[in-house]
Amino acid sequence: MTIHQIVLIPGDGIGPEVATAVTRVLRFAEAPVEWEEQHAGVAALDSLGEVLPEQTLDAVREHRVALKGPCTTPVGEGFTSVNVQLRKRLELYVAVRPIRNLPGIATRYEGVDLVVLRENTEGLYSGIENEVTAGVVTSLKVATEHASRRIASWGFQYARDRGRKKITVMHKANIMKLSDGMFLRCARVIREEGGYDDIEHEEMIIDAGCMKLVQDPTQFDVLLLENLYGDVLSDLCAGFVGGLGVVPGANIGNDYSVFEAVHGSAPNIAGKGIANPLALLMSAVMMLNHLADTRGDARCREVGERIKSAYNRALTDGQKTRDVGGELGTEEFASAVIERLGA
Ligand SMILES: NC(=O)c1ccc[n+]([C@@H]2O[C@H](COP(=O)([O-])OP(=O)(O)OC[C@H]3O[C@@H](n4cnc5c(N)ncnc54)[C@H](O)[C@@H]3O)[C@@H](O)[C@H]2O)c1
Repeated sequence: MTIHQIVLIPGDGIGPEVATAVTRVLRFAEAPVEWEEQHAGVAALDSLGEVLPEQTLDAVREHRVALKGPCTTPVGEGFTSVNVQLRKRLELYVAVRPIRNLPGIATRYEGVDLVVLRENTEGLYSGIENEVTAGVVTSLKVATEHASRRIASWGFQYARDRGRKKITVMHKANIMKLSDGMFLRCARVIREEGGYDDIEHEEMIIDAGCMKLVQDPTQFDVLLLENLYGDVLSDLCAGFVGGLGVVPGANIGNDYSVFEAVHGSAPNIAGKGIANPLALLMSAVMMLNHLADTRGDARCREVGERIKSAYNRALTDGQKTRDVGGELGTEEFASAVIERLGA
């Protein structure tokens, strides 16, 4: 029986708490994985002297798959984002964030089932900023045809493989004619070259798109977005289904994949034992499905299905953390899921 070696990066803030809860659930579910723990973020700075140690990157290169907790980035000063560096260094060029209603979590919307695909390697996240003179700075938005084509290509194939019907590209090409214009053009070309006539394709200026999203998110299916728009809209869309505690994610490249929740290190609740581990648990289920798809190990999908069914039942039974209207702590929610595993 194959045991998959997976890199576990607990991260900062609530990261270690939710990672502990999630690995406990996977252990009880008998997921065929073994963890190699590595560090990134402030946790790595404290123990190893750098925020993204080479040994962490090497471990992901060796095992090819990682489960990662959030890493803190100082605001307006300090080191550049570990998350941005990791995605760039490993060429994890697409962030996949499925946004769906869950049983037992009442929100303003029903029937939401959309996927945010965020370009993960360039745009304003190039981090190239410059002080021209006192009081004047530039921040460079880098866009390449290569990256715009590869995410469009990945997105159309993803839509077809998953039976998705429509891709909406949101943009600001009325203002950023060259960069966003190229992103739009690449999606059109890929659709035509790839013969994706079965996938409906629409383009929408992002400000109007935000209004349409909040009016009725069920009219959307797959959103294809450059980096900054994808970052912002991921959190906006999380709000449709119960918030950041319930939205998983995957950063995918041709060689490596790092699964992580959309949420950050949540310093306001870190150390209190109340963070919702569900977003990371759902990310772990995405990881198990990915292992099934890429390594042909059907047991991973079976374990993922059991975990999914267990957390859905826990939520239906009203077993929830506080962020989604319940009373449980992080470990109590993990225990509620474990009680329903295999039942
Ligand atoms: N991928 C990542 O590692 C990542 C992503 C986003 C932000 N960050 C970093 O996280 C830090 C904090 O950022 P922020 O406060 O803007 O965003 P955040 O996502 O950490 O928190 C936003 C709000 O959501 C709540 N929240 C988030 N996750 C939750 C969970 N699992 N359960 C219950 N409530 C949850 C928080 O308590 C907070 O009120 C920053 O340093 C930021 O750079 C990291």
